[in-house]
Amino acid sequence: MRFSQGMTLGMIVLWAAMQAASAEAGGEGLSSRIGSGNPAAGKDKSDAGRCQECHGVDGNSGDPRIPNHAGQHAGYLAKQLFDFQTGTRQHEVMSVMAEDLDAADIADIAAYFAAQKPMRGRDGSGKAAARPLFEHGDASRKIPACAECHGSNGEGRADHNGSVVPVLGGQRKVYLRAQLVSWKLGERNNSPDGVMNEVAKRLSDDEIDALADYLSGLQPP
Ligand code: HEC
Ligand code: HEC
Repeated sequence: MRFSQGMTLGMIVLWAAMQAASAEAGGEGLSSRIGSGNPAAGKDKSDAGRCQECHGVDGNSGDPRIPNHAGQHAGYLAKQLFDFQTGTRQHEVMSVMAEDLDAADIADIAAYFAAQKPMRGRDGSGKAAARPLFEHGDASRKIPACAECHGSNGEGRADHNGSVVPVLGGQRKVYLRAQLVSWKLGERNNSPDGVMNEVAKRLSDDEIDALADYLSGLQPP
């Protein structure tokens, strides 16, 4: 089943459950998080002056607009780098940074960041205003539960088919907010079957603020 515009809420929930079932089949161990790359090689390839300068030596960025990668699923990081290379995802700086990486570089760098201690947010206010929306969605407005895909601690998941949902718990608040706004406006379009555009366009700006605040304060296990 593919995700599409005309889906009812029931269909979206079924779609999410199917994704979850295939994730369980793949297992959730550290090796599925790191993928096939070599973290030690990835450390050198991403060293200061390249990626670590902005994304942090341990994958925790020093700037609220720059995402953390610590403990992020390698498959997600790799997909984003390929998307920056092809222009499927656009960003002035990242398109240039990703340009000359080959597939082995991408796998190694993604493995290095994935192997770091999971990101821990410093930006959340500790308010849980968005928790009901995150955990349960809002059926009356056809908003699916974020936790259905992203996990109740925002831990995301990777499955053996390469389908991957990113870690959100502990991510930088300003970055999360900016991504939700770009999905809503259709400026970012690279989620499978447009699922994140469908979700974000139903959120108000206040809900986006509250979700970003809540998520940055969650701690993935
Ligand atoms: C000058 C700072 C800078 C450098 C250097 C840099 N990045 Fe980034 N990176 C960013 C910013 C800013 C974003 C957020 C882009 C956006 O807002 O869409 C980002 C986003 C990303 C993302 C998407 C993360 C997500 O959660 O979706 C990945 C993956 C990434 N960078 C990997 C790398 C790698 C690998 C390198 C080194 C080859 C690198 N970056 C170098 C600033 C930088
Ligand atoms: C049906 C599954 C699904 C649901 C429901 C869902 N997401 Fe996502 N989300 C994804 C996938 C898959 C991606 C990765 C897209 C890509 O490959 O670029 C993603 C990406 C994101 C990102 C970008 C993360 C980054 O590092 O750039 C944010 C933020 C996000 N989702 C927030 C939410 C919020 C908030 C909700 C609930 C209102 C939600 N998502 C509901 C599947 C889902």
